[in-house]
Amino acid sequence: MKLDELNKVAQAMVASGKGILAADESSGTIKKRFDAIGVESTEDMRRDYREMLFRSAEGMKHISGVILYDETIWQKAKDGTPLVELIKKAGAIPGIKVDEGTKPLPFCPGEVVTAGLDKLPDHLPKYYEQGARFAKWRAVIDIGAGIPTYTCIRANAHALARYAALCQVNQIVPIVEPEVLMDGDHDIDRCYQVSELALKALFHELYLARVKLEGMVLKPNMVVPGKKSAKQASVDEVAEKTLRVLKECVPAAVPGIAFLSGGQSDLDATARLNAMNRMGGGPWKITFSYSRALQAAPQKAWSGKVENVPAAQAAFTHRAAMNGLASMGKWSPELEKKAA
Ligand code: 13P
Repeated sequence: MKLDELNKVAQAMVASGKGILAADESSGTIKKRFDAIGVESTEDMRRDYREMLFRSAEGMKHISGVILYDETIWQKAKDGTPLVELIKKAGAIPGIKVDEGTKPLPFCPGEVVTAGLDKLPDHLPKYYEQGARFAKWRAVIDIGAGIPTYTCIRANAHALARYAALCQVNQIVPIVEPEVLMDGDHDIDRCYQVSELALKALFHELYLARVKLEGMVLKPNMVVPGKKSAKQASVDEVAEKTLRVLKECVPAAVPGIAFLSGGQSDLDATARLNAMNRMGGGPWKITFSYSRALQAAPQKAWSGKVENVPAAQAAFTHRAAMNGLASMGKWSPELEKKAA
């Protein structure tokens, strides 16, 4: 393993003014997204849609890396150019989602653990050869009555650490994603408590697995109230509590933190990221690794029609630019309106 090279890639993933485009929806998830805009999820439509994003020259200026799903990393654009080459030409680093989704966790009703570890020694070298320089594995922690259990927190942290170590020995930067879901009616302090538990357990397991923190990127949730909570939080409260839990739990050796959007509105995801960068004070870069908060607008604008490609690319460029500004604390609601 060459740690200096892993560190260079990790630094580039969180470079100032840029963030990560999570375009790694599984076949099931992209079908859900396409259903919502009335588009049939065929291999060609998925290719056309993602090609449209990667060819958004202006939007891609704000993108440091793109997380791909297995199907996409092998796909070619309509003109025969591999999609991975389009991403590189746009100045971004190709990455790959390597988990196989979740499975029920034995003896823990309602909880899941992420699967796919056994395939990694075989798959990671092939992905590296195909151009991937980073990977992603997502653990899912739900909040509800009596959950999460420590069994779930620990099983998922252990799997994340095993995955991260396997990535690093294969010269791939792991994005380590412990996602505390924002479903449910819990308040923001309950999310804080569970996020703290998940992060403390995670960094303990990463240490035991001998993962080098300089060669990884953390992809956490923000600390937010559940979607169904009667008590919603201000932008500043979310930013303060998220920064506080990260300062409590994430060592300074980690180069960067790239948030998931997790079902927040596009504007919340941007405003909260911006507020954190305004407040500052952490030792790591703070940016985005959004799927929904970058793609909801272009998906709607595109709706599967060739004639809508320019409008969809403009919508993607707008969200990418706004989040790029937020990653430097330079976004404002006025800029949002002016640029729209
Ligand atoms: P969202 O931004 O839609 O939460 O997706 C990010 C991601 O990659 C989830 O694993």
